[in-house]
Amino acid sequence: MNTPQNSFVQYEKDAVYKVIFSRRDVRAKFLDKKIPGNILARILNAAHHAPSVGFSQPWDFILVGDLKIRERIKQSFLEEFQKSVRMIESDQERKHKYTSLKLEGILESSMNICITYDPERFGPFVLGRTSISETGVYSVCCAIQNLWLAARAEGLGMGWVSIISNSKIREILEIPEHVSPIAYLCIGYVSEFEETPDLERSGWLPRLNLEDVVCYEKWRVRKSEKWAEARDEIARTDFNKVVK
Ligand SMILES: Cc1cc2nc3c(=O)[nH]c(=O)nc-3n(C[C@H](O)[C@H](O)[C@H](O)COP(=O)(O)O)c2cc1C
Repeated sequence: MNTPQNSFVQYEKDAVYKVIFSRRDVRAKFLDKKIPGNILARILNAAHHAPSVGFSQPWDFILVGDLKIRERIKQSFLEEFQKSVRMIESDQERKHKYTSLKLEGILESSMNICITYDPERFGPFVLGRTSISETGVYSVCCAIQNLWLAARAEGLGMGWVSIISNSKIREILEIPEHVSPIAYLCIGYVSEFEETPDLERSGWLPRLNLEDVVCYEKWRVRKSEKWAEARDEIARTDFNKVVK
């Protein structure tokens, strides 16, 4: 179809919103099915085309298939999980709910990916990173989100496991001192994607209303005549129901 370079036709817009709203953090229901090399290359390329401060592209993607390595990572999860349980020891109800959640799929997924941040890439002077050093890590997070969305479009579930020791990951995956592990991800084909986040369904936390997180002109200013039209639309929008 012939469309101007700067515009998306309706079905293309629909596809963008569909992938955004149907993406889930997935840690269960993985299938015993390998991710073909061409699909893996495609989603990694999507990640690699994320925005990055000064075009520094400070990421590396460590593909982890070896079960022995994954078992060591899982051990770190178990240790960190026990530490986190101790933090809510006094609240039995919360503890019960927390311990009933499935918070990782390290061994059941088809493979894992560790995404790292290298502050020395094209450095030390990185355009745009001169005032806010965290922009390097933000860039890696943009790559992670691209990967997450591309994976969803390919029917691959992806889950971020952060209840894990970065120093253990560094040691196990032989990551040098100056490089930081940013995300440890479980990825693979799944039998189904849930419509809403697991933490929402289990009653851990609700999704906030959009209108409660949008401010007008200044921090936490929720009322503004100037923004009335957008504000009314925002109040009416139920983003949970945008895409089925
Ligand atoms: C930085 C980051 C770390 C996360 N770490 C974990 C984790 O360790 N275990 C887990 O079950 N979910 C983890 N999640 C997933 C969130 O719980 C999930 O994104 C959120 O509940 C919303 O659900 P959704 O991604 O399906 O929309 C993490 C997400 C992010 C962005």
